[in-house]
Amino acid sequence: MDSLKITGGHKLNGTIPISGAKNSALKLMAACLLTREPLTLTNMPNLADTRFLSQLLASLGVEVYWPKGDSECRLNAAELTSTIAPYDQVRKMRASFNVLGPMLAREGHATVSLPGGCAIGARPVDLHLQALEAMGADLKVEAGYVKAAAIHGLKGAKIVFPFVSVGATEHAMLAATLAHGTTILENAAREPEIADLADCLNKMGANIGGAGTATVKIEGVEALSGATHAVMADRIEAGTYAMAAAAAGGDVTLEGAPVAALGAMIDAMQRSGVDVEADEAAATIRVQRNGSALKAVDVNTQPHPGFPTDLQAQFMALMSIADGTSVIRENIFENRFMHAPELSRLGADIQVRGKEAIVKGVEQLRGAPVMATDLRASVSLVIAALAAEGETQVNRIYHLDRGFERLEEKLTGCGADIQRVEGE
Ligand code: EPZ
Repeated sequence: MDSLKITGGHKLNGTIPISGAKNSALKLMAACLLTREPLTLTNMPNLADTRFLSQLLASLGVEVYWPKGDSECRLNAAELTSTIAPYDQVRKMRASFNVLGPMLAREGHATVSLPGGCAIGARPVDLHLQALEAMGADLKVEAGYVKAAAIHGLKGAKIVFPFVSVGATEHAMLAATLAHGTTILENAAREPEIADLADCLNKMGANIGGAGTATVKIEGVEALSGATHAVMADRIEAGTYAMAAAAAGGDVTLEGAPVAALGAMIDAMQRSGVDVEADEAAATIRVQRNGSALKAVDVNTQPHPGFPTDLQAQFMALMSIADGTSVIRENIFENRFMHAPELSRLGADIQVRGKEAIVKGVEQLRGAPVMATDLRASVSLVIAALAAEGETQVNRIYHLDRGFERLEEKLTGCGADIQRVEGE
């Protein structure tokens, strides 16, 4: 297995282009199943996860044209040859589960494996299933598979989510585009990726209003057409590099950054004493820290527009070298502190108590071998390693390849010392 060898202590200076958002791209790709015409997605991130979903779509009969390294992907689901997504494919990437609703809405039936838990928690899909049932789907769970049928098509429904779920909101929205009548989603997630998905679906002829607010209204239409859509910029990638620059010190400008989507992150960084200049019109965020100390700041992860859970690990790495003690509370996932013991191997002082991590800032982190456990945990170790004295080996970096496009290239371009070591 490949690892990264990082020699810390180099300031980061330069510019970093932000790629298309993984978590938007995955749902936009699933939207191709709703139409017989081609869907062209531009600004596509070349990642293990997006490539993986393109293979799953191909196995369902979608013609995929996406040359290696290209940022434009053409998906043509003129004919589906299968409506079954097997365990092996859904287990490897949970977002594959999102093919269920679109196939059901279009074909009237679909069989998709349940995703199972993952490193950050149990992550059930009950809200997804309740939403599809409310739209009239007949669901049977057998041998780890959801067998769904809606012979006469899905019908509009009022769905009140008991708590906010990004995936369930997106899944219900995808399925409702082709339902008979109106669907109202209450207590919908407000993540920017939801508005991006609605924009794309509306270009395809859907009739969705309110995406990005807590109430989304979808008027079902007879059929959707093809469209071309640019994937929104990745707010989590942008936030990650902002924190890397703050931790290592230096002067980095993020280009093509989704500034409006990053309010809570920018606020937390500014409160910790980092100089952050965000320019929404220019889509740039300049992050500077030259010698000044970091102040400890508490954060609480929340659904958007709160502080994102997907930046919690990275912020913990930053707080591990701040002056004072910060309390980081994880409210979205029950098991998302696996990076804490690994950060401690680099000298961080972190105590985890239930939903809270108490981080006492230390003067200096020191390099050590560490192990990545999930995507965002992995990159928090990279951030800590950039700020640490000496050499860190980050093992199991296949997690990073799932969600960060050209990570080494982007960071070495700003002066970081990072090498990929190929494993046996
Ligand atoms: C999306 O996951 C993202 N994944 C996650 O990013 C992100 O952390 C999360 O939203 C929150 O922002 C993708 O977009 C592919 P949820 P999702 O449904 O949709 C519980 C990353 O690192 N829940 O909002 O799965 C669930 O267990 C990943 O890029 C139910 O109980 O998140 C969690 O505790 C990790 N039943 C909470 O709700 C359900 O049916 C929020 O999950 C659905 C969710």
